[in-house]
Amino acid sequence: MKQEKEIIYFITGNNHKFKEIKKLFQKEEIDYYLKQKTAATIEVQASNIKEVALFKLNSIKPKFNNSYFVEDAGFFIDDPLKGFPGVYSKFVLNTIGNKGILKLINDYWNTVAHFEAVIALYFQPLDKIFTFEGSVEGKVSKEIKGTNGFGYDPIFIPNGLSNNTFGELSIEEKNAISHRAKAWQKMLIFLRKHQ
Ligand code: IMP
Repeated sequence: MKQEKEIIYFITGNNHKFKEIKKLFQKEEIDYYLKQKTAATIEVQASNIKEVALFKLNSIKPKFNNSYFVEDAGFFIDDPLKGFPGVYSKFVLNTIGNKGILKLINDYWNTVAHFEAVIALYFQPLDKIFTFEGSVEGKVSKEIKGTNGFGYDPIFIPNGLSNNTFGELSIEEKNAISHRAKAWQKMLIFLRKHQ
């Protein structure tokens, strides 16, 4: 254990993401203190989320001497859209939005969808980069439901939780099952091992 808590930076402009991770951090006895920072990053169009996260991390020119991480996520409608919007999630949300996505689906009976998240961490004590991945499976809601969360939350129904969308869940409920929380749990194990 260290004498003092070290700062670890979550580099993100997305306050929702920060809130979710912060809540998870607060629950744990851990030698790090989480701070949000925005920084100029480059977001590439790549074939998978991990590549996007790693490129983003490597594009940061830090003016501090701490560990820091970025997180990238995507929403994949496996059936019937063969994984779309996936790595195009941000662009699609900003253009056609959730309403537009729902119009692309004719038959809601058997939809299959999932979220993926990748945390890319620059770990200063080892001067190395590590990645942690998480996903959550579910389906697409027939209608936009709920005002919590952000992005695709109001149209994603996770498996095993009645018929609520992520948009109808509290942060704590989303954190109990989400892609981001699962990636975080893996990073937590790593941080504990190295404290
Ligand atoms: P980003 O590149 O990781 O910020 O995410 C790509 C797109 O997916 C953005 O439009 C986000 O709003 C959306 N997104 C990311 N994570 C989530 C989530 O946990 N729930 C809903 N939408 C998300």
